[in-house]
This record gives sequence, C-alpha cells and structure tokens, in this order.
Amino acid sequence: MAHTVAVIVGSLRKESFSLKIANALARLAPPSLKLEIITLHGLSFFNQDLEPNPPADWVSFREKIQKSDAVLFVTPEYNRSTSGVLKNAIDVGSRPYGKSSFLGKPTGIVANSPGPLGGVAAAMHLKSILPGISGPILQQPEIYLTGVGDGFDDKGNLTKEALEKVLKAYIDAFAAWVERLKK
Ligand SMILES: Cc1cc2nc3c(=O)[nH]c(=O)nc-3n(C[C@H](O)[C@H](O)[C@H](O)COP(=O)(O)O)c2cc1C
Repeated sequence: MAHTVAVIVGSLRKESFSLKIANALARLAPPSLKLEIITLHGLSFFNQDLEPNPPADWVSFREKIQKSDAVLFVTPEYNRSTSGVLKNAIDVGSRPYGKSSFLGKPTGIVANSPGPLGGVAAAMHLKSILPGISGPILQQPEIYLTGVGDGFDDKGNLTKEALEKVLKAYIDAFAAWVERLKK
C-alpha cells in the first residue's frame, strides 16, 4: 500500500508558487507515495491558554499529520525565514508537550522563491527548529527552487522542464527514503 504524505503548504496566497509546487509534486510522485495537500487557511493562532481545550481546527490539523506516514513542508521564504503561517502550524502540531504530531515522521523540506536564492534561508530555519519535534529530515538531496515565478501557466500547470526534472528527482528520492525507513 502507498505511504501517505501530508504536504504542508506555507503560503495562503491563491496563486502561491508553493501551492503549485505541492500540486506538481503530488502529480509527479511515484505510486508508492500518496501526497495529501494541506493548506493552512482557517488554522487559528496557537495560544497556550487554549491547550487544555484545543479548538477543532487544531485537532483536525493534528489528526491529519498523525495519520500520515511522512511529512513534506513546501515553504516560501519570508524575510530570510519560513512564513509566519507555517511557523504557527508547526507550533500547533508540536503540542501538547512531548506529543508532537510530527514525531517520528520522515520529513522533507522543499524551499522555493521567485528570487535567485531559492528559499535556502527558510529551509535552514526549518532545519533548526524541527529536530526536537519531528522525525528524521531528509538531508540529501536538498532542494532550493530558484526563479519559480515563470514555472507555471495560468492554470497552475508546470511549464519549465528543468523545474519538473528537479521536482521529479526529489520526490523519487523522498519516496525511496520513506520506503527504506518504513520497512
Ligand atoms: C513578507 C515577505 C517577505 C519576503 N521575503 C523574502 C525573502 O527573504 N527571500 C525571498 O527570496 N523572497 C522573499 N519574499 C518574496 C516571496 O518569495 C514571494 O512573494 C513568493 O511568491 C511567496 O511564496 P508563494 O508564491 O508560495 O506565496 C517575501 C515576500 C513577502 C510577502
């Protein structure tokens, strides 16, 4: 049976390149992986006061992560870090203390930017905040997608062969790694 991957999209923007990349990865994934796109619309701010009685949107987000076999973060770069909405989602998913929904899940980070640095700073920040609350993070191949602004047509389809190639190589490597870890 295919392994399920919760693909968390770090942008709320309707025309988000991160969302388009997540959709492209779902299409390019081999049959051994089933990618489920999770957008963060409606996920409320983490507030420690609400922990004893968590809001339904936190519970539902946590359950989606818990029932997946692996997690993939598709992150834009905001001010040399990940986006605030993604950090909030990580905070929500990381609690209650010691019971992070991400724990033990093989984790991938796909960073992107229309600019020349490909979101590398955002990916580095994720790599510094995740280790205590996630599972193993795929280290190679790394993926920092530069110049994504002209990678899609107005229907969101991939139009750049080089981008498709690198996405395919990444998701195949991620699938093989998940397969090994989940054996
Ligand atoms: C608040 C803000 C900060 C940004 N900071 C960076 C940055 O540090 N590096 C970068 O490459 N792009 C930066 N950008 C540009 C984003 O990469 C660009 O808006 C991108 O399209 C956002 O991702 P999305 O298409 O998935 O929404 C920033 C954009 C915003 C709105």
